[in-house]
Amino acid sequence: MRVLITGAAGFIGSNLAESLLKQGTQVVGLDNFNDYYSPARKRKNVAALGAYSDFVMHEADLRDETTVTRVITEGSFDAIAHLGAMANVRYSIERAPLYTDVNIRGTVNVLEGARLAGVPHIVFASTSSVYGKTEQLPFQENDPLGKPLAPYPASKIAGELMGYTYHNLFDISFTAVRFFSVYGPRGRPDMMPFMITDSIVQDKMFKLYDAGEMYRDWTFIGDIVKGITAALERPLGYERINLGRGQPVRMADFVTLVEQLVGKRALMETPPAPASEPHITYADITKARRLLDYAPQVSVEEGMAIFWEWYQKEVMN
Ligand SMILES: NC(=O)c1ccc[n+]([C@@H]2O[C@H](COP(=O)([O-])OP(=O)(O)OC[C@H]3O[C@@H](n4cnc5c(N)ncnc54)[C@H](O)[C@@H]3O)[C@@H](O)[C@H]2O)c1
Repeated sequence: MRVLITGAAGFIGSNLAESLLKQGTQVVGLDNFNDYYSPARKRKNVAALGAYSDFVMHEADLRDETTVTRVITEGSFDAIAHLGAMANVRYSIERAPLYTDVNIRGTVNVLEGARLAGVPHIVFASTSSVYGKTEQLPFQENDPLGKPLAPYPASKIAGELMGYTYHNLFDISFTAVRFFSVYGPRGRPDMMPFMITDSIVQDKMFKLYDAGEMYRDWTFIGDIVKGITAALERPLGYERINLGRGQPVRMADFVTLVEQLVGKRALMETPPAPASEPHITYADITKARRLLDYAPQVSVEEGMAIFWEWYQKEVMN
Protein backbone atom coordinates (compact mmCIF):
# COMPACT_ATOMS: atom_id res chain seq x y z
CA MET A 1 0.00 0.00 0.00
CA ARG A 2 1.20 3.52 -0.86
CA VAL A 3 -0.13 6.38 1.25
CA LEU A 4 0.23 10.16 1.05
CA ILE A 5 0.10 11.86 4.46
CA THR A 6 -0.48 15.61 4.40
CA GLY A 7 0.66 17.33 7.59
CA ALA A 8 3.27 14.56 7.97
CA ALA A 9 5.63 16.79 9.96
CA GLY A 10 3.01 17.49 12.61
CA PHE A 11 2.03 15.68 15.79
CA ILE A 12 -0.49 13.16 14.47
CA GLY A 13 0.96 12.97 10.93
CA SER A 14 4.48 12.05 12.04
CA ASN A 15 3.22 9.43 14.50
CA LEU A 16 1.00 7.93 11.79
CA ALA A 17 3.85 7.96 9.25
CA GLU A 18 6.19 6.17 11.64
CA SER A 19 3.64 3.50 12.49
CA LEU A 20 2.77 2.85 8.80
CA LEU A 21 6.45 2.71 7.79
CA LYS A 22 7.11 0.21 10.60
CA GLN A 23 4.44 -2.10 9.18
CA GLY A 24 5.93 -1.88 5.64
CA THR A 25 3.59 0.69 4.05
CA GLN A 26 5.21 3.10 1.57
CA VAL A 27 4.69 6.64 2.83
CA VAL A 28 5.04 10.00 1.11
CA GLY A 29 4.70 13.09 3.31
CA LEU A 30 3.67 16.65 2.47
CA ASP A 31 3.97 19.60 4.83
CA ASN A 32 4.90 23.29 4.62
CA PHE A 33 6.65 23.31 8.05
CA ASN A 34 4.92 26.58 8.91
CA ASP A 35 5.86 28.52 12.04
CA TYR A 36 2.50 28.31 13.83
CA TYR A 37 4.64 26.37 16.28
CA SER A 38 8.36 25.64 16.11
CA PRO A 39 9.37 24.43 12.62
CA ALA A 40 12.47 22.96 14.29
CA ARG A 41 10.17 20.63 16.25
CA LYS A 42 8.48 19.58 12.98
CA ARG A 43 11.86 18.96 11.32
CA LYS A 44 12.81 16.79 14.28
CA ASN A 45 9.59 14.79 13.84
CA VAL A 46 10.47 14.19 10.18
CA ALA A 47 14.12 13.41 10.93
CA ALA A 48 12.88 10.43 12.95
CA LEU A 49 11.30 9.08 9.73
CA GLY A 50 14.53 9.40 7.71
CA ALA A 51 15.61 5.97 8.93
CA TYR A 52 13.05 4.35 6.62
CA SER A 53 14.17 4.08 2.97
CA ASP A 54 10.53 3.96 1.85
CA PHE A 55 9.83 7.48 3.14
CA VAL A 56 9.79 10.55 0.86
CA MET A 57 8.98 14.05 2.10
CA HIS A 58 7.72 16.99 0.02
CA GLU A 59 8.00 20.48 1.49
CA ALA A 60 4.92 22.05 -0.11
CA ASP A 61 1.88 24.16 0.68
CA LEU A 62 -1.65 22.77 0.50
CA ARG A 63 -2.75 26.10 -0.99
CA ASP A 64 -0.45 25.55 -4.01
CA GLU A 65 -2.84 23.71 -6.32
CA THR A 66 -0.23 22.94 -9.01
CA THR A 67 2.23 21.33 -6.62
CA VAL A 68 -0.43 19.42 -4.70
CA THR A 69 -1.79 18.02 -7.97
CA ARG A 70 1.71 17.09 -9.17
CA VAL A 71 2.60 15.28 -5.93
CA ILE A 72 -0.68 13.35 -6.01
CA THR A 73 -0.59 12.46 -9.72
CA GLU A 74 3.04 11.34 -9.58
CA GLY A 75 2.49 9.24 -6.48
CA SER A 76 0.22 6.32 -7.54
CA PHE A 77 -1.36 6.35 -4.09
CA ASP A 78 -3.86 3.80 -2.80
CA ALA A 79 -5.04 6.28 -0.18
CA ILE A 80 -4.46 9.77 1.23
CA ALA A 81 -4.49 10.64 4.93
CA HIS A 82 -5.30 14.34 4.74
CA LEU A 83 -4.18 15.66 8.13
CA GLY A 84 -2.49 18.90 7.05
CA ALA A 85 -4.39 21.90 8.40
CA MET A 86 -4.33 24.93 10.60
CA ALA A 87 -5.57 23.46 13.89
CA ASN A 88 -6.63 25.15 17.18
CA VAL A 89 -10.06 26.63 17.82
CA ARG A 90 -8.95 29.73 19.74
CA TYR A 91 -6.19 30.73 17.29
CA SER A 92 -8.74 30.62 14.47
CA ILE A 93 -11.02 33.24 16.06
CA GLU A 94 -9.40 36.24 14.36
CA ARG A 95 -7.96 34.34 11.39
CA ALA A 96 -10.95 33.13 9.41
CA PRO A 97 -9.30 33.94 6.03
CA LEU A 98 -6.24 31.79 6.83
CA TYR A 99 -8.36 28.87 8.06
CA THR A 100 -10.58 29.10 5.01
CA ASP A 101 -7.59 29.09 2.64
CA VAL A 102 -5.71 26.21 4.22
CA ASN A 103 -8.50 24.03 5.57
CA ILE A 104 -11.14 24.46 2.87
CA ARG A 105 -9.25 25.45 -0.27
CA GLY A 106 -6.35 23.15 0.70
CA THR A 107 -8.79 20.25 1.16
CA VAL A 108 -10.38 20.94 -2.22
CA ASN A 109 -6.90 20.89 -3.78
CA VAL A 110 -6.32 17.44 -2.27
CA LEU A 111 -9.74 16.22 -3.47
CA GLU A 112 -9.06 17.61 -6.97
CA GLY A 113 -5.66 15.92 -7.04
CA ALA A 114 -7.31 12.65 -6.01
CA ARG A 115 -9.92 13.01 -8.74
CA LEU A 116 -7.33 13.73 -11.45
CA ALA A 117 -5.00 10.96 -10.31
CA GLY A 118 -7.72 8.39 -9.62
CA VAL A 119 -6.85 7.93 -5.92
CA PRO A 120 -9.75 5.83 -4.61
CA HIS A 121 -9.78 6.65 -0.90
CA ILE A 122 -9.27 9.63 1.42
CA VAL A 123 -9.21 9.76 5.21
CA PHE A 124 -9.80 13.31 6.44
CA ALA A 125 -8.82 14.66 9.88
CA SER A 126 -11.94 16.23 11.33
CA THR A 127 -12.58 17.24 14.90
CA SER A 128 -14.87 16.89 17.91
CA SER A 129 -15.31 20.67 17.75
CA VAL A 130 -17.67 20.28 14.77
CA TYR A 131 -20.33 19.43 17.41
CA GLY A 132 -20.19 22.90 18.99
CA LYS A 133 -22.15 23.44 22.23
CA THR A 134 -24.47 20.49 21.85
CA GLU A 135 -26.57 19.41 24.85
CA GLN A 136 -26.65 15.86 23.53
CA LEU A 137 -24.19 13.50 25.23
CA PRO A 138 -22.23 11.56 24.17
CA PHE A 139 -21.59 13.16 20.74
CA GLN A 140 -22.94 11.01 17.92
CA GLU A 141 -22.02 11.23 14.27
CA ASN A 142 -25.58 12.07 13.18
CA ASP A 143 -25.92 15.05 15.56
CA PRO A 144 -26.68 18.32 13.73
CA LEU A 145 -23.63 20.46 12.91
CA GLY A 146 -25.29 23.78 12.20
CA LYS A 147 -23.64 25.88 14.94
CA PRO A 148 -19.81 25.83 14.77
CA LEU A 149 -18.38 28.12 17.48
CA ALA A 150 -15.33 29.37 15.52
CA PRO A 151 -13.75 29.40 12.04
CA TYR A 152 -11.73 26.23 12.71
CA PRO A 153 -14.72 23.88 13.24
CA ALA A 154 -16.62 25.67 10.45
CA SER A 155 -13.71 24.94 8.09
CA LYS A 156 -13.66 21.27 9.12
CA ILE A 157 -17.41 20.91 8.55
CA ALA A 158 -16.85 22.43 5.09
CA GLY A 159 -14.09 19.86 4.45
CA GLU A 160 -16.46 17.02 5.39
CA LEU A 161 -19.10 18.45 3.04
CA MET A 162 -16.69 18.81 0.10
CA GLY A 163 -15.68 15.21 0.76
CA TYR A 164 -19.28 14.15 0.33
CA THR A 165 -19.51 16.09 -2.92
CA TYR A 166 -16.44 14.34 -4.36
CA HIS A 167 -17.74 11.00 -3.16
CA ASN A 168 -21.09 11.65 -4.82
CA LEU A 169 -19.72 12.95 -8.13
CA PHE A 170 -16.55 10.92 -8.59
CA ASP A 171 -17.06 7.86 -6.40
CA ILE A 172 -14.06 8.64 -4.19
CA SER A 173 -14.32 6.94 -0.80
CA PHE A 174 -14.10 9.57 1.97
CA THR A 175 -13.91 8.87 5.69
CA ALA A 176 -13.87 11.86 8.04
CA VAL A 177 -12.37 10.78 11.36
CA ARG A 178 -13.36 13.22 14.11
CA PHE A 179 -10.52 13.30 16.64
CA PHE A 180 -11.18 14.15 20.29
CA SER A 181 -8.34 16.02 22.12
CA VAL A 182 -5.31 13.96 21.14
CA TYR A 183 -2.18 13.93 23.32
CA GLY A 184 1.09 12.01 23.61
CA PRO A 185 4.72 12.05 22.38
CA ARG A 186 5.41 14.80 19.77
CA GLY A 187 2.28 16.53 21.14
CA ARG A 188 1.41 20.03 20.02
CA PRO A 189 2.94 22.78 22.21
CA ASP A 190 -0.28 24.85 21.88
CA MET A 191 -2.45 22.14 23.48
CA MET A 192 -3.33 21.89 27.14
CA PRO A 193 -1.26 18.77 28.10
CA PHE A 194 1.93 20.37 26.77
CA MET A 195 1.08 23.84 28.14
CA ILE A 196 0.21 22.74 31.66
CA THR A 197 3.38 20.60 31.79
CA ASP A 198 5.46 23.59 30.61
CA SER A 199 3.82 25.87 33.17
CA ILE A 200 4.44 23.54 36.09
CA VAL A 201 8.03 22.78 35.07
CA GLN A 202 8.84 26.48 34.56
CA ASP A 203 6.71 27.86 37.46
CA LYS A 204 4.65 29.90 34.99
CA MET A 205 1.03 30.98 35.47
CA PHE A 206 -1.53 28.74 33.71
CA LYS A 207 -5.06 29.74 32.67
CA LEU A 208 -7.50 27.04 33.76
CA TYR A 209 -10.87 27.99 32.32
CA ASP A 210 -14.02 27.83 34.47
CA ALA A 211 -11.88 26.74 37.44
CA GLY A 212 -11.30 23.36 35.81
CA GLU A 213 -15.02 22.47 35.70
CA MET A 214 -14.78 21.57 32.01
CA TYR A 215 -14.45 18.09 30.54
CA ARG A 216 -12.37 16.84 27.61
CA ASP A 217 -12.34 13.36 26.09
CA TRP A 218 -8.52 12.98 26.07
CA THR A 219 -7.38 10.33 23.59
CA PHE A 220 -3.88 8.87 23.39
CA ILE A 221 -1.99 9.22 20.10
CA GLY A 222 -1.36 5.45 19.80
CA ASP A 223 -5.10 4.76 19.85
CA ILE A 224 -5.74 7.51 17.28
CA VAL A 225 -3.05 6.11 14.95
CA LYS A 226 -4.71 2.68 15.13
CA GLY A 227 -8.06 4.25 14.26
CA ILE A 228 -6.64 6.17 11.27
CA THR A 229 -4.81 3.06 10.04
CA ALA A 230 -8.02 1.02 10.13
CA ALA A 231 -9.81 3.83 8.27
CA LEU A 232 -7.07 3.85 5.59
CA GLU A 233 -7.37 0.09 5.14
CA ARG A 234 -11.18 0.12 4.81
CA PRO A 235 -12.79 2.29 2.14
CA LEU A 236 -16.38 2.72 3.36
CA GLY A 237 -18.00 4.98 0.77
CA TYR A 238 -18.76 8.13 2.78
CA GLU A 239 -18.54 8.01 6.58
CA ARG A 240 -17.96 10.34 9.52
CA ILE A 241 -16.56 8.52 12.52
CA ASN A 242 -15.67 9.68 16.05
CA LEU A 243 -12.23 8.70 17.30
CA GLY A 244 -12.17 9.50 21.00
CA ARG A 245 -11.79 7.55 24.22
CA GLY A 246 -15.36 7.91 25.37
CA GLN A 247 -14.36 8.89 28.92
CA PRO A 248 -14.32 12.67 29.47
CA VAL A 249 -11.83 13.87 32.09
CA ARG A 250 -12.49 16.88 34.37
CA MET A 251 -9.83 19.47 33.61
CA ALA A 252 -9.09 20.07 37.31
CA ASP A 253 -8.37 16.32 37.65
CA PHE A 254 -6.16 16.45 34.57
CA VAL A 255 -4.09 19.21 36.21
CA THR A 256 -3.77 17.15 39.42
CA LEU A 257 -2.51 14.22 37.35
CA VAL A 258 0.21 16.37 35.73
CA GLU A 259 1.13 17.89 39.11
CA GLN A 260 1.69 14.37 40.44
CA LEU A 261 3.83 13.38 37.44
CA VAL A 262 6.01 16.49 37.61
CA GLY A 263 6.05 16.51 41.43
CA LYS A 264 5.09 20.19 41.78
CA ARG A 265 1.96 22.31 42.14
CA ALA A 266 0.62 24.42 39.24
CA LEU A 267 0.29 28.20 39.49
CA MET A 268 -3.15 28.98 38.11
CA GLU A 269 -5.60 31.72 37.33
CA THR A 270 -9.15 30.69 36.50
CA PRO A 271 -10.88 33.01 34.00
CA PRO A 272 -14.25 32.14 32.47
CA ALA A 273 -14.05 30.00 29.32
CA PRO A 274 -14.15 31.91 26.00
CA ALA A 275 -17.27 31.63 23.83
CA SER A 276 -15.42 29.31 21.44
CA GLU A 277 -15.13 26.58 24.12
CA PRO A 278 -17.77 23.92 24.78
CA HIS A 279 -18.20 22.79 28.39
CA ILE A 280 -17.61 19.14 27.49
CA THR A 281 -16.45 16.89 24.66
CA TYR A 282 -17.56 13.27 24.86
CA ALA A 283 -17.30 10.75 22.02
CA ASP A 284 -19.76 7.99 21.36
CA ILE A 285 -17.38 5.44 19.80
CA THR A 286 -19.95 2.77 18.93
CA LYS A 287 -19.60 3.46 15.22
CA ALA A 288 -15.78 3.33 15.31
CA ARG A 289 -15.96 0.02 17.17
CA ARG A 290 -18.37 -1.38 14.58
CA LEU A 291 -16.75 -0.11 11.37
CA LEU A 292 -13.08 0.06 12.33
CA ASP A 293 -12.75 -2.45 15.21
CA TYR A 294 -11.49 0.57 17.12
CA ALA A 295 -10.86 -0.14 20.80
CA PRO A 296 -8.89 2.55 22.66
CA GLN A 297 -6.50 0.95 25.14
CA VAL A 298 -4.61 3.71 26.92
CA SER A 299 -5.98 5.42 30.03
CA VAL A 300 -5.20 9.08 30.61
CA GLU A 301 -2.96 8.10 33.57
CA GLU A 302 -0.90 5.72 31.40
CA GLY A 303 -0.87 8.07 28.41
CA MET A 304 0.25 11.12 30.37
CA ALA A 305 3.02 9.07 32.04
CA ILE A 306 4.27 8.21 28.51
CA PHE A 307 3.97 11.86 27.50
CA TRP A 308 5.91 13.01 30.59
CA GLU A 309 8.72 10.56 29.82
CA TRP A 310 8.93 11.91 26.24
CA TYR A 311 8.77 15.52 27.46
CA GLN A 312 11.70 15.05 29.85
CA LYS A 313 13.83 13.52 27.08
CA GLU A 314 12.85 15.73 24.15
CA VAL A 315 11.75 19.06 25.60
CA MET A 316 13.71 19.50 28.85
CA ASN A 317 17.05 18.46 27.30
N1 LIG B 1 -4.42 17.16 17.97
C1 LIG B 1 -5.73 17.11 18.17
O1 LIG B 1 -6.20 16.94 19.30
C2 LIG B 1 -6.69 17.23 17.02
C3 LIG B 1 -8.06 17.17 17.31
C4 LIG B 1 -8.97 17.26 16.26
C5 LIG B 1 -8.51 17.36 14.95
N2 LIG B 1 -7.18 17.44 14.70
C6 LIG B 1 -6.76 17.56 13.29
O2 LIG B 1 -5.78 16.58 13.03
C7 LIG B 1 -4.85 17.07 12.08
C8 LIG B 1 -3.44 16.96 12.62
O3 LIG B 1 -3.37 17.76 13.80
P1 LIG B 1 -2.07 17.85 14.71
O4 LIG B 1 -2.53 17.94 16.12
O5 LIG B 1 -1.09 16.81 14.31
O6 LIG B 1 -1.57 19.32 14.30
P2 LIG B 1 -0.15 19.81 13.77
O7 LIG B 1 -0.27 21.29 13.67
O8 LIG B 1 0.94 19.24 14.60
O9 LIG B 1 -0.09 19.18 12.32
C9 LIG B 1 -0.63 19.79 11.18
C10 LIG B 1 0.47 19.89 10.14
O10 LIG B 1 -0.08 20.52 8.97
C11 LIG B 1 0.90 21.36 8.44
N3 LIG B 1 0.29 22.43 7.64
C12 LIG B 1 -0.47 23.46 8.09
N4 LIG B 1 -0.80 24.28 7.08
C13 LIG B 1 -0.26 23.73 5.95
C14 LIG B 1 -0.25 24.12 4.59
N5 LIG B 1 -0.83 25.25 4.18
N6 LIG B 1 0.38 23.33 3.70
C15 LIG B 1 1.02 22.19 4.11
N7 LIG B 1 1.05 21.78 5.40
C16 LIG B 1 0.42 22.54 6.32
C17 LIG B 1 1.63 21.94 9.63
O11 LIG B 1 2.93 22.43 9.31
C18 LIG B 1 1.66 20.76 10.59
O12 LIG B 1 2.86 20.04 10.51
C19 LIG B 1 -5.29 18.49 11.74
O13 LIG B 1 -6.07 18.46 10.57
C20 LIG B 1 -6.12 18.89 12.94
O14 LIG B 1 -7.07 19.87 12.60
C21 LIG B 1 -6.25 17.37 15.70
